[in-house]
Amino acid sequence: MTDHPYPLAGVLGNPIAHSRSPKLHRHWLKTYDLVGDYVALPVEGDNLETVLKTLPKMGFVGVNVTIPHKVHALHIADQVTDRATLIGAANTLTFLPDGKIYADNTDGYGFIENLRQNASGWRANAGPAAVFGAGGAARAIIVALLDAGAPEILLSNRTRAKAETLRQEFGSRVRVVEWVQAGNMLEEAATVVNTTSLGMKGAAEFRVPLDGLRPDAVVTDLVYTPLRTPLLDTASEMGCTTVDGLGMLLHQGVPGFERWFGVRPEVNDALRKAVLA
Ligand code: ATR
Repeated sequence: MTDHPYPLAGVLGNPIAHSRSPKLHRHWLKTYDLVGDYVALPVEGDNLETVLKTLPKMGFVGVNVTIPHKVHALHIADQVTDRATLIGAANTLTFLPDGKIYADNTDGYGFIENLRQNASGWRANAGPAAVFGAGGAARAIIVALLDAGAPEILLSNRTRAKAETLRQEFGSRVRVVEWVQAGNMLEEAATVVNTTSLGMKGAAEFRVPLDGLRPDAVVTDLVYTPLRTPLLDTASEMGCTTVDGLGMLLHQGVPGFERWFGVRPEVNDALRKAVLA
């Protein structure tokens, strides 16, 4: 360990320059009048293990890891939470006093807390959830929705084989729907989640027909650039409750910040403003 004068944390990824995590954690450090810092560190895949073994010796108490390091970090860690094991990836690492690495995945937690905070009365067990996409983000969302009591997950992905793999892994409560029929999932869905990059600034449009949406559905998009995606706008016009994806980013940061700096931080409007600035 080190006698660095204050605790350091950060986010490792590649690329990492556009990460909003430094704004998020620095806002909390300032709000709670804590000494510490949080920095974005570009790290290449081959160097990840060396970097993770070195950071504790430099005053780091933990780090977030993001694309492309989430799966590799899980395998480097010495201790892993059950939810990170289930998801198969880590996003929050804590360096224990003996230098060992404790890995967690708080993406699913962030997803659920965002809905709880911004769609009052939302319950996972209100009915089936429709999930678009079967990439890394979808894995965390499916684990979280099943854990929170969703009776069924209707899952559709352009590449069907990836959705089938998730069904095999997560069991019979997951039902795969052809991508060309993805709109049909909506007639049954109480919760609707876009985990694909469709609708993101610079990416392709989200073209799934939305006329089957139930007005009592809660609809959320993991895309938060733009904050109001075409999916959320259409859902809102159809009477659905909609929740943007920024809140998931904010909430996923809570457990790490608490472990590293000792205060459980609040997610509120001031934080949203700081992160969007
Ligand atoms: P993440 O970790 O953010 O989930 P990812 O693992 O690369 O990122 O997954 C991206 C998701 O967006 C996948 O479900 C992908 O579909 P494929 O598995 O078929 O690639 C989906 N996606 C990306 N571009 C898409 C497009 N143009 N049309 C449909 N789905 C798309």
